[in-house]
Amino acid sequence: MKSHKIITPRDALSLIPSPSRIVLGHAAATPIRVIDAMIQEKQRFQNVEIVHMLSLGSAEYTHASMLGHFKHNALFVGGNTRDAIKRKQAEYTPCFFFEVPSLFENGALPIDVAIVQVSLPNEDGLCSFGVSCDYTKAAARCAEIVIAEMNQQMPWVHGNNTIHVDELDYIIPCDYPLACLEQAPIGDVERAIGQHCESLIKDGDTLQLGIGAIPDAVLMSLHDKKDLGIHSEMISDGVLSLIKSGVINNRLKPINTGKIIATFMMGSKNLYDFAHNNPMIELHPVEDVNHPMVIMKHDHFVSINSCLQVDFMGQVSAESIGFNQFSGVGGQVDYVRGASLARNGRSIIAMPSTASKERMSRIVPLLETGSAVTTTRNDVHFVVTEYGIAQLKGKSLSERARALINIAHPKFRDELTRAYHSRF
Ligand code: COA
Repeated sequence: MKSHKIITPRDALSLIPSPSRIVLGHAAATPIRVIDAMIQEKQRFQNVEIVHMLSLGSAEYTHASMLGHFKHNALFVGGNTRDAIKRKQAEYTPCFFFEVPSLFENGALPIDVAIVQVSLPNEDGLCSFGVSCDYTKAAARCAEIVIAEMNQQMPWVHGNNTIHVDELDYIIPCDYPLACLEQAPIGDVERAIGQHCESLIKDGDTLQLGIGAIPDAVLMSLHDKKDLGIHSEMISDGVLSLIKSGVINNRLKPINTGKIIATFMMGSKNLYDFAHNNPMIELHPVEDVNHPMVIMKHDHFVSINSCLQVDFMGQVSAESIGFNQFSGVGGQVDYVRGASLARNGRSIIAMPSTASKERMSRIVPLLETGSAVTTTRNDVHFVVTEYGIAQLKGKSLSERARALINIAHPKFRDELTRAYHSRF
């Protein structure tokens, strides 16, 4: 490592021009030391645009006191940035996850500075992007300046997940624990959803699952399956016990046989320790992992994602409630499309039947005005709630509406049936 590259977080501040666009490493690889220094010296910055998808931590650059210094451009909206989007201090840019690297590359979203986290280099001078390869690798390739927090605690995760130390313009040596994600509590509703999903999953399938209580409940219901594979945008702790029991062995995957393929991971230290130097787990850039043409190569592929509302036609909104941008498309459409294109593929949208402490039905005659359609009615195979499974593929509009009313919460079924009669 050339010593002139080594700097402190405070030194990094003079490398960030105002105005400029910076991209931060993703999720559990959010580069905390530089962000903290930027916040402390916010007066040095005017109109610095901070681009990322998920970030863990307080995202203080989105707080009201940062107005004029930083502006967040969200490619996905998480819990820590939602309020800033609501207050219009941050903006959401719609995009499929698999296309994010192309935005950096083709001039749609050029980057001045990438601030990322990497592991220590190996004997060949290669550093691993560790738990987040996703768009982070592309950001480091496309930015004018690359600043890397070289974190001693970043695991070495295999895959097309490395960068040579000479490609890092500046290095900040660090030693801090990665951000962890607490497991969401699993209740009766999630358990029932998990069991319905289980009935749609067959031995030998390759699965994609997202984050949260529903994916974890699905995984918990799979202990009697055999020869499952994982090809997923992200993995979390839910996969660990199935790997240890041999249910997930990736033996029948037609490509990347024997390996779990993902583009990032987020969970506990236990997960990160398990992934460290483990040849069974590989992370690859999101433009490869999430590309529907790659996903479709897996015969028997099953995608499982969640949503906020489904209307009678089967249109799925996973990202906004009316004009309120709650989340983002993320990889949902990448996987729904890939699963639909795969031979014997199935896409499942799984959600509790109600929201807001059972005050609202998630199955509605019409999406709220302003809600974005994330997954179109043409793409959805199955919708699952705690009350069962609605198969939408091959069904007419009125058949879809009836199938969806059958899995709505009983207390909303009369109201939905009245709306059905006035429509059909
Ligand atoms: N109307 C009003 N409020 C609603 C609602 C609706 N139709 N649906 C959900 N909500 C509220 C819930 O009550 C909850 O509020 P609370 O926190 O005050 O209880 C909140 O919105 C979150 O809903 P919930 O369904 O619990 O969220 P989740 O953490 O399970 O995430 C998605 C669900 C849809 C936001 C999430 O799956 C997502 O972001 N999907 C898009 C990206 C994607 O699919 N990526 C691929 C896999 S990683």
